Amino acid sequence: MVAPVVVLCLELVVALHLVLRRRRGYSSTSGQPERKRRAAMRPSLMRSASQVLRRRRGYSSTSGQPERKVAILGAAGGIGQPLSLLMKLNPLVSSLSLYDIAGTPGVAADVSHINAPAQVKGFMGDDQLGEALEGSDIVIIPAGVPRKPGMTRDDLFNINAGIVKNLCTAIAKYCPNALVNMISNPVNSTVPIAAEVFKKAGTYDEKKLFGVTTLDVVRAKTFYAGKANVPVTDVNVPVVGGHAGITILPLFSQATPATNALSDEDIKALTKRTQDGGTEVVEAKAGKGSATLSMAYAGAVFANACLKGLNGVPDVVECSFVQSTVTELPFFASKVKLGKNGVEEVLGLGQLSDFEKEGLENLKGELKASIEKGIKFANA
Ligand SMILES: NC(=O)c1ccc[n+]([C@@H]2O[C@H](COP(=O)([O-])OP(=O)(O)OC[C@H]3O[C@@H](n4cnc5c(N)ncnc54)[C@H](O)[C@@H]3O)[C@@H](O)[C@H]2O)c1
Repeated sequence: MVAPVVVLCLELVVALHLVLRRRRGYSSTSGQPERKRRAAMRPSLMRSASQVLRRRRGYSSTSGQPERKVAILGAAGGIGQPLSLLMKLNPLVSSLSLYDIAGTPGVAADVSHINAPAQVKGFMGDDQLGEALEGSDIVIIPAGVPRKPGMTRDDLFNINAGIVKNLCTAIAKYCPNALVNMISNPVNSTVPIAAEVFKKAGTYDEKKLFGVTTLDVVRAKTFYAGKANVPVTDVNVPVVGGHAGITILPLFSQATPATNALSDEDIKALTKRTQDGGTEVVEAKAGKGSATLSMAYAGAVFANACLKGLNGVPDVVECSFVQSTVTELPFFASKVKLGKNGVEEVLGLGQLSDFEKEGLENLKGELKASIEKGIKFANA
């Protein structure tokens, strides 16, 4: 930590010295300052010094925000395309890198015409993956195949596990410090796979790996607001556990605004609908994929929270599937406070109702098996 700070300080001293020399008008031949101009130069000198400092920190000269590069892997897919659109619209993004095995030149050209500040570039195929990733602050991964009717998320394992393993190997090489937002299913296994790949590469930082479970929260909020008849934009519901079937555990006892209007049966029905929300969409799409638009929205919400955390905005909290000691399981979704290094704090479960306590015990077996399956695959 000390060495980079010392190097940065030295660089700043040298940069300031060069600015001073230029501003003082040292003659390149005599080395004498033009003293008369010095007083008049002082305000612009201060401006230049501040510009040097800002450039070193990677601040945008127009917005005053730190420059942030976001890469989307799987950017030409059903989730990838609307997610690319939403990230292009995010004012915290200065560079947007769209990667896929096919189709990204078109998506990038299309999105790049939108008059929002983020610079968009498309990358296609293995040869361009490194360039797509280099310098990324956040990598969002919606690459892989989605479910068809009758499939569970675990049925996707064989294809998506391999895709995630390869992409994470490249992340470890080209942007080992990036926050990784894993969308590819089964999240309960792909996050442990990513962790193992990063451990092997010596780059694992548990604060920087996130399974995106925001869609479960989005659904829980929407369904609760509808049933409790409260304004949906005011609603908050934590969702814990994992991201598949019964491992998704919405904590409606902690929902705000609180209501007495819901019976135990209502809560059971809301819980089941939240757990089966993905299947509801898969069946409605009848073979044409799974949730894409609501997922892109959820992915954009979560990435925005990560960006705000990186930029030092205080008290940014979202649920996410992360390395955890909240239960005996090594990974678990719960409320997470986001900060400058990713996870700042994994928050506990709070007070649970008896129904939620039962749900928590019931989910542990399946979640444990999915985590172990991911770890085994990565180490095979
Ligand atoms: N976390 C969640 O809540 C959530 C919700 C919905 C879907 N998903 C998952 O997201 C994934 C994507 O879903 P979709 O509907 O966008 O699927 P899709 O088939 O429409 O798009 C997937 C994209 O990934 C690309 N791809 C495949 N292999 C790749 C590789 N090696 N590198 C880069 N890109 C690659 C494909 O070319 C395609 O463009 C699926 O695994 C799905 O189950 C997660």
